[in-house]
Amino acid sequence: MCGIIGYISGKSQKENIEVLIEGLKALEYRGYDSAGLVSISNENLIYKKSLGQVKNLEADVNKILNSSPVFGEGDYSIGIAHTRWATHGVPSELNSHPHTDCNENIFVIHNGIIENYKELKNILEKGGHIFKSQTDTEVIPHLLEKFLKENNNNSNKFDLSFLETLKIIKGAFAIAVIFKELPEMIYVAKLSSPLVIGIGENENYIASDPSALIGNTKKVIYLKDGEYAKVSKNNVNIFNFQSQSVEGEIKKEITELEWDIERAQKGDYPDFMMKEICEASEVLKKALMGRIKIDQNNPGNSFIKLGGLESIEEELKSAKRIIILGCGTSYYAGMVAEYLFKKVSKIPTEVFLASEFRYREEVFVPDTIVIAISQSGETADTIAAIKKCHDNNLTVIGIVNVVGSTISRITDSGVYNHAGPEIGVASTKAFISQLSVLALVSLYIAQIKNKSFDKNLISELNNLGDKMDAILKEENISKIKSFAEKYSNKKDFLYLGRNFNYPVALEGALKLKEISYIHAEGYAGGEMKHGPLAMIDENFPTFAIATRNKKDNVIQDKLFSNLEEIKARKGEILCIATEGDENINHITNDLIYIPETLEELEPLLVIIPMQLFAYYVGKAKNLDVDKPRNLAKSVTVE
Ligand code: AGP
Repeated sequence: MCGIIGYISGKSQKENIEVLIEGLKALEYRGYDSAGLVSISNENLIYKKSLGQVKNLEADVNKILNSSPVFGEGDYSIGIAHTRWATHGVPSELNSHPHTDCNENIFVIHNGIIENYKELKNILEKGGHIFKSQTDTEVIPHLLEKFLKENNNNSNKFDLSFLETLKIIKGAFAIAVIFKELPEMIYVAKLSSPLVIGIGENENYIASDPSALIGNTKKVIYLKDGEYAKVSKNNVNIFNFQSQSVEGEIKKEITELEWDIERAQKGDYPDFMMKEICEASEVLKKALMGRIKIDQNNPGNSFIKLGGLESIEEELKSAKRIIILGCGTSYYAGMVAEYLFKKVSKIPTEVFLASEFRYREEVFVPDTIVIAISQSGETADTIAAIKKCHDNNLTVIGIVNVVGSTISRITDSGVYNHAGPEIGVASTKAFISQLSVLALVSLYIAQIKNKSFDKNLISELNNLGDKMDAILKEENISKIKSFAEKYSNKKDFLYLGRNFNYPVALEGALKLKEISYIHAEGYAGGEMKHGPLAMIDENFPTFAIATRNKKDNVIQDKLFSNLEEIKARKGEILCIATEGDENINHITNDLIYIPETLEELEPLLVIIPMQLFAYYVGKAKNLDVDKPRNLAKSVTVE
């Protein structure tokens, strides 16, 4: 959950530091309680760590730069930098990275957890090493110092000390190391935490994820678990540190990033979160692109094409059960998919929280296909759950947004979201994209299993973008903003939904929690009488989903009676309803209309006003909606 960036080139130290700082800003969503960097250029070394967001480090380093000797184009400048989300040791300058050995000759930044750091620290302290921080990471530079001393007479001492260190530490790590005596090489290694190498012209980069490289290079190499690399300004040499046999250099393919800087910048939006909410129809289009084949002469012949699943088509055809895995918003997308697969694909389906699934005793049955959902493709719990499925010989499909991420590489097949970078910590456009892809997958499975399904689903999915844009019209947004300001002082909120919209109630509540820090609970409408009704009074408002679709009004009628019970107890009600539905006005205090659509696709529309509501409550409370407190964009450790 920390952000890592490194840069080596023949450019000036000023440019070196600019790239490091801009990279850290792009990575702040991964964690930002402190930040630090080291930059070396022509013997001039700048090493600085600062508490708080990256802008504090930027100010501190600029002060040092302004009083440093100005170096022009040097024969090299090398640097690594880190933005931290604390796991061991409180947020402080001392605990922030880079960490060093006793004499500040070795600089290390790290994302992950060194699980055996306590025993290593004891051994090192007994060997006379002095530790400055409370972190697990600090054992790494001291181990390097120890092994460097032991290998001092060996011409290969840097490689050897790096390898010996990698073999002795246990846990999850993406690390980058600079030796002061060897300022033309960045050593990096990966095990369970993400690490990518950016390839430039006479310059190279390393980073936790590609968003830090946007604007510098689109050519990247993804390290796999167990690989390490030596990165100079003109070369990248990759090896394996886990194989027993001394393997030679590993040749890796270069991936071309789809993203460009415009897509990753805010544009004229005040926040990434608002930008990403407003990208809903674009994200839907990207998810569907090339995957729905419309027969213009006979729309009834339209079909779904998912190239990423063709390799397992036979397994899908014979599948008797689907398991869905995810965390947070991805889990709620999986809950919607459970309703979809049961209704559209007619296949038994069960969705699990990855963090529960990975430790619980499971009963695995043959002909089960697993679908793992993850925007970042780096969520530790989901990765562990996938590995458990593989240990039980199950085939796993990945629904992932970040190209080349761990989950996209360890799953047996998959469907990319192509939603572009999601920078806001709260998942908004990714949820829309996940629901779009899962709708396609449900149709694809029905298609290859020759199950009959409502062909209107395909045409309606194709037309849904216009309905999303209608919800995002200015007058709608300002109405939702006014509701948000009205309710922003509330301490509790109940979110109610039924059927396909029950998972959306849970997701809507999560948005409010993580953006405004207000306690919010999502509930199935039918559960009101089983307890939650006791909480309702004039201070405990309800956000209800009371949409009406052609096929089935029983559910809405039932929800209406829930709302009557709430109203009878003076509970305020904010409601999402279907355009033209006049039956709802007398029950609710505030009303947001959305266009009618098919029941299976309602979640794709209903969630948008809920995302906007959470956003504006957060803004009304002057909170940082892109970087909510205590949270990180990608939970790469347990
Ligand atoms: C949702 O707004 C949060 N950002 C969080 O719950 C997130 O959905 C969860 O951590 C899963 O992340 P992933 O999709 O990258 O696996």
